[in-house]
Parts: sequence; structure tokens; C-alpha cells
Amino acid sequence: MKGSLLLMSTVMTIIDLVSSCPLKCLCYRFSKTVDCRNRGLTEVPSHLPADTQILLLSNNHIQKISQHAFTDTLSLKILDLSNNSVSGLLPNTFKELQNLQILNLTKNFIEYVDNKTFSSLPHLKELDISSNSILSLPETLGNNTRRITLLSLKHNKLEKVDRLLLDSLPNLKVVLFKGNFWQCNCQVFGLKLWLESFLYRGDAGTENHQESQEKQWRN
Ligand SMILES: *[C@@H]1O[C@H](CO)[C@@H](O)[C@H](O)[C@H]1NC(C)=O
Ligand SMILES: *[C@@H]1O[C@H](CO)[C@@H](O)[C@H](O)[C@H]1NC(C)=O
Ligand SMILES: *[C@@H]1O[C@H](CO)[C@@H](O)[C@H](O)[C@H]1NC(C)=O
Ligand SMILES: *[C@@H]1O[C@H](CO)[C@@H](O)[C@H](O)[C@H]1NC(C)=O
Repeated sequence: MKGSLLLMSTVMTIIDLVSSCPLKCLCYRFSKTVDCRNRGLTEVPSHLPADTQILLLSNNHIQKISQHAFTDTLSLKILDLSNNSVSGLLPNTFKELQNLQILNLTKNFIEYVDNKTFSSLPHLKELDISSNSILSLPETLGNNTRRITLLSLKHNKLEKVDRLLLDSLPNLKVVLFKGNFWQCNCQVFGLKLWLESFLYRGDAGTENHQESQEKQWRN
């Protein structure tokens, strides 16, 4: 009897641990949202509720994201890491987030994007990597990013974007380019052709018409 009580309390403790809310965050069970904004966090909190779908981590000081940061929150649909101090992303960080739809990494210090970083996010629709220090993008983001409809590359240090990369995103509706170091040389020609066919396709949102035209004017 004593033994089974002990066992029960151990099990309860474990359950408690698994489903507990990190000290500095607010957890909303019904909306499966964890709100850790503006908490001075330096890393992604652990022991997040396993069924979390929305994780808000903006306005913190997160520098490094461990490879296992999100391995317990496989239901994530929205991950907001905007306005942090992330300088690099490991190729596997987001690997298991099969349900992720929106990934916001704006306002960080990212310089480099590996071709595997976003390659296993089959449901990703919006990727915001604006306001970083990205110098170049890989030739492709992978085979699994075909659902992306919005890609924001604004305010980085890009000199070019491979046409292959844009061609590998057939569902793009909004693409934001402004505030980069575009080089006016032959390499930009592929981008120009892509933009023309993109605009011609006519399924583009007004926002990207404006942005694309802006891009064309700027060149
Ligand atoms: C970014 O986060 C810092 C706190 O880390 C905050 O003081 C600042 O207002 C935030 N910036 C924006 C634009 O929200
Ligand atoms: C990313 O977050 C910023 C605020 O931190 C917001 O202005 C921007 O619209 C978000 N991007 C997307 C794609 O939701
Ligand atoms: C990713 O990039 C590496 C080198 O940067 C290259 O060898 C590899 O083929 C690329 N993989 C894919 C799937 O494009
Ligand atoms: C994408 O798929 C094609 C064919 O299905 C394959 O040849 C290619 O290596 C794949 N690329 C990546 C980045 O996985």
C-alpha cells in the first residue's frame, strides 16, 4: 500500500513536470498557447506543455537554440522568436516540427542559413527571416517547403537570391525583398525574370506587387 502510494505520487510528479508551465511564462490551456514574451529569457524554456501549438518567445535575449529545444513540442503551429539575439541556427533545430505553419525569426543576428534548416517543415506557410544579417541563402530551402506562401527577406545583407530557390516555392504569394545589398550585375537577371513571371502569374497579393515593383525600381 505504501509502495503503491509512493509510486502514484511519483507518477503524479512526473505528469506534473511534463505538463507544467515554465516559471516565466503564461500558459493558456484552451488555446494551447504559451506566452513567454518580454521575459529576459536567454534560452528557450524547457518543460513546455507537450500539446503547445503557439509559442511566443519574442522580445527576449535568446542567443542559442539547442538542437533539442523543440523536441517535446511537436504540435507547434506558430513559433515566434522575433526580436531575440539568435546568431546561428543548427540544421536540425526545427526538424521535427511537422505541423509548424508560421516561423518568425525577424530581428535576430542570423548570418547564415543552412539548406537543411527549413527543409523538413512540410506545413510551413510563412517564414519571416527579415531584419537579420543574412549574407546569402542556399540554392534551395529543401523539398518540403512547397507550401510557403509568404517569405520575408527584408533588411538583410543579401546580394542575390538564387532563382532556383524562388522556383522551388510554387505557392509564394508574398515575397518581401527590400532593404538588401542587391548587386546590379548579371546575377540579378534571373531574379528579374522570376519577378516578371511572378507578377504575370497574377495570383500575387497587392503587397508583393508593391514590393516587387519597389525592388525593380530600386534596381
Ligand atoms: C525588443 O526586445 C526588447 C527586450 O528584449 C525590448 O526592449 C524592445 O522594445 C523590443 N523591440 C521591439 C521593436 O519590440
Ligand atoms: C513577425 O513578428 C513581427 C513583430 O515582432 C511582426 O511585425 C511580423 O509581422 C511577424 N511576421 C509574420 C510573418 O507574422
Ligand atoms: C546543401 O549544401 C551542401 C553544401 O553547402 C551541399 O553539399 C548539399 O548538396 C546541399 N544539399 C541540398 C539538399 O541541396
Ligand atoms: C528533392 O527531390 C528530388 C526528387 O524528388 C531529389 O532529386 C532531390 O535530391 C531532393 N532535394 C532535396 C533538397 O531533398
